[in-house]
Amino acid sequence: MSAKAATDCLPASANSAAGPAGGHGARHVAIIMDGNGRWARARMLPRMVGHQRGVEAVRRVVRAARDMGLDALTLYAFSTENWRRPEDEIAALMGLLKRFILSDLDEFCANNVRLRIIGDYRAFAPDVVALIDHALARTAGGTGVTLVIALNYGSQDEIARAAGKAAAKGVVTPATITAELDTAELPPLDLIIRTSGEMRLSNFLLWQAAYAEMWFTEVHWPDFTPEHLEAALAAFGKRERRFGGR
Ligand code: IPE
Ligand code: IPE
Ligand code: MG
Repeated sequence: MSAKAATDCLPASANSAAGPAGGHGARHVAIIMDGNGRWARARMLPRMVGHQRGVEAVRRVVRAARDMGLDALTLYAFSTENWRRPEDEIAALMGLLKRFILSDLDEFCANNVRLRIIGDYRAFAPDVVALIDHALARTAGGTGVTLVIALNYGSQDEIARAAGKAAAKGVVTPATITAELDTAELPPLDLIIRTSGEMRLSNFLLWQAAYAEMWFTEVHWPDFTPEHLEAALAAFGKRERRFGGR
C-alpha cells in the first residue's frame, strides 16, 4: 500500500449527471442496509454469504447514486451496537470491508468518487485504519458523488461528541452542534432508506433525520438494486416537505 498522502485521483469534471437531478430533487440519501442475515437464512446459506452479497449491492448502488445525480450517499455499515455480535462475524465484516476498499478504490478514483467516513473508525484494528486513511487520502480530490460509510457509527455518540466540542468553544446551539457533527461537510440529509422491513433508525443519523423523508422496503439488502433506489427517489420527489411551515 502506498503511504503517500496526496490525492492521486485527478479532479475531473464535476458530477456529470443531471445535477440535483433526475427531477427527484434529492442531494443526500442515506441507507440502513439491513437484512443480510435474513437473506442468507432464507436460502439456508451462512450469514457471511449474505454479507458478501451485501457488498455487491453496495457496488451497484454506489454506481447508481452517481448516475442518478446524488451529491452524497451515506451507507450504514457498522454501528456502535454491532460490537455486540459474535467475534467471528465482526472479524468477517472487517475482512469484507478491507477487501471492498482494496478492490474498489481504483474504481472510486476513476469515477471521481470521494470517500468519507462518519463514526469513530479509529477504534478498528490498525491495518483497517491505515487502509481507510489511505483510501480517504486517495479520493480526497473527488468532485463527483461523495460516498460516506458509517463505521463504528452511533448517532448518540456523534451528538455527544459534537455537543462536547461546541461546549468547549463556549456556545451550544443547534447550529453549533450541527457544525461539529461528523456530517458537517455534507449536504443536508434528504432521504433515509431502510431495507428488510424494520421501521426504526437503530441509532443512525438521529439529529440529521429531523426533517428527512423516510422510505422503507421489505427487500433484504443483498437484493437491493438501482431500480429500488430509483423507486425511493421517485417517491421522495412526490413528497411535500414543509419543515414545520405551511
Ligand atoms: C445488515 O444485515 C448488515 C450489518 C448490520 C452489518 P444484518 O446482519 O443486520 O442482517 P439481519 O438483520 O440479521 O437479517
Ligand atoms: C443497523 O442494523 C446497523 C447497520 C445496518 C449497520 P442492525 O441490524 O444492527 O439493527 P437492529 O439491531 O435490527 O436495530
Ligand atoms: Mg439487522
